[in-house]
Amino acid sequence: MATKLASTLQAVRGMNDILPSYSFAWGKLEATLRQLAHGYGYREIRCPLLEPTALFKRTVGEGTDIVSKEMYSFDDYSGDSLSLRPEGTASCVRAGLQHGLLRQQQAVQRLWYCGPMFRHERPQKGRYRQFYQFGVEVFGIKDPFIDAELMLMSAQLWQRLGIRQKVSLQLNSLGSAESRRQHRAALITYFTEHQTQLDADAKAKLQTNPLRILDSKNPALQTLIKQAPKPLDYLDADSLAHFNALRGVLDSAKLNYEINPHLVRGLDYYGLTVFEWVSDDLGAQSTVCAGGRYDNLVEQLGGNPTPATGFAIGLERLMLLLGEDYMADNTDVLPHLYLIAVGESAWSHGLVLAEKLRTQLPQLRLISHCSERSFKQQFKQADKSGARWALIMGEDERAKNEIGLKYLREDKPQCSLSVEALIDLLKKETVNYATF
Ligand code: HAM
Repeated sequence: MATKLASTLQAVRGMNDILPSYSFAWGKLEATLRQLAHGYGYREIRCPLLEPTALFKRTVGEGTDIVSKEMYSFDDYSGDSLSLRPEGTASCVRAGLQHGLLRQQQAVQRLWYCGPMFRHERPQKGRYRQFYQFGVEVFGIKDPFIDAELMLMSAQLWQRLGIRQKVSLQLNSLGSAESRRQHRAALITYFTEHQTQLDADAKAKLQTNPLRILDSKNPALQTLIKQAPKPLDYLDADSLAHFNALRGVLDSAKLNYEINPHLVRGLDYYGLTVFEWVSDDLGAQSTVCAGGRYDNLVEQLGGNPTPATGFAIGLERLMLLLGEDYMADNTDVLPHLYLIAVGESAWSHGLVLAEKLRTQLPQLRLISHCSERSFKQQFKQADKSGARWALIMGEDERAKNEIGLKYLREDKPQCSLSVEALIDLLKKETVNYATF
């Protein structure tokens, strides 16, 4: 029965198990991200995975692919429409308003989050239906310096992870609300003139949200889209000044970027700065990190006008860039010790001793074999576990109130020593504990 279940029940398509052989790398990456965020003054926020569907309709936008065809939405037993979060920005704004973090008189908020997001997209390499994002959001700073710092911060991360050469920065400005209104009008005129070339989807978007036509993947529309009016051509003086000041910082920091006038992002809340880090090593899903400014969103959800900006990184894509060696590394979770014993009283003695060691050295990694096998079979397991030492509790050791210590990886003689001597040795030898 169990086998039959296992052969028919599978994880939901596009949703991945992270197995023990890779979970250490995930923890390591998350620790690096946490350190990065704290190093720039961000504090963690953890929001629910489920939110009212209306939140995403009003932020990401009803006309976007994410909301119109990719959300996991359902009515719960109370009849409320809920959705698994497709992204984290909307939840940060919702939580910030709900808990008074975004009151005008309050200081600037720098928030970070890390967790699963859900989108019903067609799965392929780097694109999944459950995926992890690490994101940061800053509320209360309108100046372009913070946008620049977000880009420097992401570059700092690539540097720390050793993948700086694999990614490049693309930048654009969508302009202020007024600039976007003018650009929108120009888009409507342009696409109306070429209406016969539009597909049904683009025709529908022409009425509701013409900017979203620019996201179309239809190959037949690409030439038309390339020649469409660009947001940069409609920037007003303030928007242009914002963009130029941002570029000034990037230039002084010698952070290379390419201006991509077609970059508009697939979510409705952006204005002014938008950016993406892309890589040639990721295949079709080439964006590993994306973000921008969303100064109108807080007000749109009922708060005071509050400038805001942020980015999110797709962690599966980041793992792909880090490569197999990084992903398969589990050296820091290998046990230090593997306890073997034979006979009931040796086992009770051994397990009591193991607890004593753990109490004295909380970061010690010690596996007890815990089942009756011959010494030979247990040594085999000890070797396989990757432990540095085998701890041996036999009749002799028990009688002398000592424990045997066998080096499994070094050419050193086996010895027998008191518990106190063992603790001293472990204190000296196991200094490189994992820190998370
Ligand atoms: P986004 O561009 O929709 O932006 O997603 C950000 C990143 O999440 C993408 O660049 C990609 O690396 C990853 N990602 C998105 N969809 C998938 C997927 N189906 N499978 C795997 N990875 C995926 C946002 O979500 C915004 N909230 C970013 C932001 C934060 N803007 C301002 N603050």
